[in-house]
Amino acid sequence: MINCYLFFNDSVLVEKVTPILDRLGDTISGHTILDVKQFNSIEDFRRDLIIADYGSFQLLETENVDIDSYKKIFLIGEVETEEDDNLVYINQKHLLTSITQYVSDFLENGLAKVEYIKFKLEKLLVDLPLPCNLLILKSRDKFSEFKLAGEKLSTETIKKLESKTINSVFIKNEDFPKMMEFLNKNREISDIFDEKILIDTVAALHEFVIEMGFDERIVKLIKNLHKNIENQYTDKDIRRLLARFKGTQGSFIYNHSFLTSMIALSVGENFSWMNYENREKIYLASILHDLGFRKKENAFKEYLGKEKIGQLPQEDQDDILAHPSRFSKILENSKNIHPDVIKMIELHHGLDGENSYPKMVNESEINPLILLFVISHEFSVGLYKQNFNAAKVPSLINGLKLRFKEGKYKTLLGNFETTINTIFLA
Ligand SMILES: [Fe+2]
Ligand SMILES: [Fe+2]
Repeated sequence: MINCYLFFNDSVLVEKVTPILDRLGDTISGHTILDVKQFNSIEDFRRDLIIADYGSFQLLETENVDIDSYKKIFLIGEVETEEDDNLVYINQKHLLTSITQYVSDFLENGLAKVEYIKFKLEKLLVDLPLPCNLLILKSRDKFSEFKLAGEKLSTETIKKLESKTINSVFIKNEDFPKMMEFLNKNREISDIFDEKILIDTVAALHEFVIEMGFDERIVKLIKNLHKNIENQYTDKDIRRLLARFKGTQGSFIYNHSFLTSMIALSVGENFSWMNYENREKIYLASILHDLGFRKKENAFKEYLGKEKIGQLPQEDQDDILAHPSRFSKILENSKNIHPDVIKMIELHHGLDGENSYPKMVNESEINPLILLFVISHEFSVGLYKQNFNAAKVPSLINGLKLRFKEGKYKTLLGNFETTINTIFLA
């Protein structure tokens, strides 16, 4: 178990940082410190991480807190993000991405020093043979085994523990990979996605992408495109579609669609052929592309890959596999929507090798604009999969490079990579 102490002057920062830590899992336990004197009463073996702002950090020094006894101190302020011994300076504009990245790195490297790892009871699976022994905490740092590998945990046992106010169990550090594999293999797909970042207001979403490194200009461009489209398309059908998109605000579909348009329009700035008309096509395709889902909760399952999709209830499988063509068919009747937009929607899952659906697309069917949309969509999906961890962006790009290495794909991907690197890694 890793202890992380939050010490901020500014309560807004506490509100921002706490959910970041929550998402990083049970291995890390966050404590809010209100009085600097509390630091000196923390036992040595619990001195892991501190996250503080500059003002609060000075208090630590004034109060002679032994800063070196903590493994890492994350300092948030208007600084360059950099590491210096156990001090990590974090630029507050990149708070979310940097903390996620540094703390997960710390967890991955630091886990080796932790003997036991905690799991909340509610996260465990019942009636399945356990991959490793489970332990409970008897008294301070004394553990005893209560279930052995191969045995099963029953709902009754869990209830019994809860009645004794035991809410978590522990496993040995070396069993951690086995346990994670077991949980990920057997958990309901929806549980896995519960841990993903969901931003519930449009304003927060705009802030979030700028924090990630996207140019504010592109956010403004999108706002303008949306306004122009609302003014320009007056026919009933399109108005209904725009209203339907608006109705998805706060959901995965909205955030994912917005992010796809941010990526495509940012990369699009590199091309001489990118004019107003093409920007509008990209934006329309982005906001409409996943409206073909009958059940909007199915939208975040679109990137599970065919094997996992095949394990879902038949009705959900049909909904996912048909959403691109179902919606492009509807749009074909609309005189106002450009055929490129319809193609982007129809083919947006068609360039994923064996995971393509409803069918794999031939290169000859694709023009650079459609390709830009499809690759941006893939990247947007990938960012979600890895919880927006900037450290994993290079491997995401490498994955795309392996898939899109043919002639005209390659040139576009080169530009794609350059833009993404300036956004995320600059
Ligand atoms: Fe889709
Ligand atoms: Fe999508």
